Amino acid sequence: MRIGVDYYPEQWDRSLWERDAETMARTGVKIVRLAEFAWSRLEPQDGVFNFEWLDDVIRIFSRFAIGIVLGIPTSCPPLWMYEQYPDIVQVNPDGKPKQLGIRGHRCLNNETFRSYARRITEQMVRRYGSNQAVVAWQIDNELEAYPCCCETCKAKFRDWLIEKYGDVNTINAAFGNSVWSGEYSSVTQIQPPNAYPLAWQNPTLNLDWFRFTSHSTNAFVRDIALVIRKEVKRALITTNTWFCENMPDFYKLFADLDFVSYDNYPPIKLPAGTEQYYSHAFHLDFMRGVKEDLFWVMEQLSGPTGSWAPMSMTPRPGQIMGYALQAMAHGADTVVHFRWRTAVTGAEMHWHGILDHSNVPNRRYNEFSELCKAVSRLNILDNTTIISDIAILYSPESEFALRAQPQVEGFYYLEQLMAFHRAFMRYGANVDVVSPKTDLSGYKLVIAPALYVNKPSVTENLYRYVIKGGTLVLTNRSGVKNEYNNCIMDSLPTVFKELIGAEISEYDPIGNNELSIRDFAGNEFVCREWCDLLQPTTAKTYAEYNDGFYRCIPAVTMNRYCAGVTYYVGTVCESDFYESFAGNLMMQTGIPRLMGLPFGVEVTTRTNGRDEYICFFNNSEKTVIIPLPKPMFSMINSVGKDKLELKPFEMEVVRK
Ligand code: GLA
Ligand code: ZN
Repeated sequence: MRIGVDYYPEQWDRSLWERDAETMARTGVKIVRLAEFAWSRLEPQDGVFNFEWLDDVIRIFSRFAIGIVLGIPTSCPPLWMYEQYPDIVQVNPDGKPKQLGIRGHRCLNNETFRSYARRITEQMVRRYGSNQAVVAWQIDNELEAYPCCCETCKAKFRDWLIEKYGDVNTINAAFGNSVWSGEYSSVTQIQPPNAYPLAWQNPTLNLDWFRFTSHSTNAFVRDIALVIRKEVKRALITTNTWFCENMPDFYKLFADLDFVSYDNYPPIKLPAGTEQYYSHAFHLDFMRGVKEDLFWVMEQLSGPTGSWAPMSMTPRPGQIMGYALQAMAHGADTVVHFRWRTAVTGAEMHWHGILDHSNVPNRRYNEFSELCKAVSRLNILDNTTIISDIAILYSPESEFALRAQPQVEGFYYLEQLMAFHRAFMRYGANVDVVSPKTDLSGYKLVIAPALYVNKPSVTENLYRYVIKGGTLVLTNRSGVKNEYNNCIMDSLPTVFKELIGAEISEYDPIGNNELSIRDFAGNEFVCREWCDLLQPTTAKTYAEYNDGFYRCIPAVTMNRYCAGVTYYVGTVCESDFYESFAGNLMMQTGIPRLMGLPFGVEVTTRTNGRDEYICFFNNSEKTVIIPLPKPMFSMINSVGKDKLELKPFEMEVVRK
């Protein structure tokens, strides 16, 4: 377990470097990330390299035993490059090149940019590859699946389609281009779907464009990773990601990398209602699931955020420490704070780091140094991991397709995943969020919300899991599309009909209108957004609609299939339904439940196979008291405890 900071030596006077490193070391910082935006300092002119300053910085940090993550600075090509090769810039849908002056404007498919990117990478790895202080490499920064419309991207997209389909006639058939006279008679007519809102354009074209842009980003990452590995066989390589506008397929993005790193900015102001409380833990579990392994936080909330928008509130007492420990409880083994000191120049001067512009130690710095001390007492967690009985499946293609074609007012794919996640967290269970392609055999319970775009391999994976005795939950909008994002001509949920033992005779996209359902025990829950009217063949009713013209028609069903069970939830409910349903599912599948957890308290367990360490995090603004079933030893405060009293955002780790 390590705490680090992001540091920008190129933004500070050289006289500060040594002092900063010394203060960091004294505070307990073990990692520093450097140089991910420093290309113009490293290569001030084409082919003229200047590494001396970075040599000095690296020497200083290694003297203080602070490990270094070196950023490959491809997010910001120097302006001379844009001037020399104007076509390396990304192009907007209107055909206009992006305006320079900020960052991230390079087209990842442009060959000139790619060769410069390889060259700067080569220079860096040759110089620092064998330096013991360099512990990892970060490629670029917050890469997206950019919808670039430059001539290179258009040509590559056409080649990609031809490679996939063979010829335009096959493309026309797959896209269903007879609609609106959309048939291509030549590949040159194919355009990226960027000129209009996605929902107006051909859904197959949209989904293939997502696949292509995601693939382009992966190809760039793989290219750079290869350059690094050629020089340094054992290099640890990552790229830092986030939940961005043009989300790439994370599973593919990290396939050739060594670990996932995530930029973690949890909410400073907690959501008012009860609905969103656990959404942040969801993001952390999601990141752990990308490579099904521990991950890093490469940027962590450190102060008021701002610059792109008006400034946020300052982190509340406990949040700097608590949110970093929360990330660790969910599988981060290194947390790097963004950033050591707030910038005094440049556009980002109001996105605060640990230290303010003044460089005078402040409340946040004091809490940060307490965090470093607490983490040094958590070494016991170093060789532990998180094992979960429950998996929630996330499909990047379903997410994209549902975003491109909104189903009904209020319906948001990730929210269905979060609703289940939140419910299981109320019982203190570990939850994995993983790809639908993964091996599910180790899970007692698998939730697959809205599997909208279907690939035969995924369908088979789910059948295999249930046949062998697994318990699966499917929800509304499953089985709707084939892998081309076209509707399947069959009654819903098409490929899953047999598994759920029911068919949908009709659906009602009710949006923000409210109805209610009643479960087998007589409990009533509000539902909205979507109502599937289920007609069981072999399934039993778990809950039925309570009003509307489909009163008494099943809304949630349960079906035994071979050795397993499949539930189907035909509607979208408020959180009390998911809590009650999750509790029943856990009971049915023998997953232990912690009852009566105060609201907002998250519990995760890390284990080394012998000992178990339970992390209790108070993600609320109230002090809470949690009775323990027996006295337990606190790893943070080194004392035995028979109950926990947690202040707002406080974390406690106890040995079970
Ligand atoms: C992102 C970027 C950082 C920085 C922060 C804060 O996470 O990766 O470089 O810009 O946002 O603004
Ligand atoms: Zn491009």
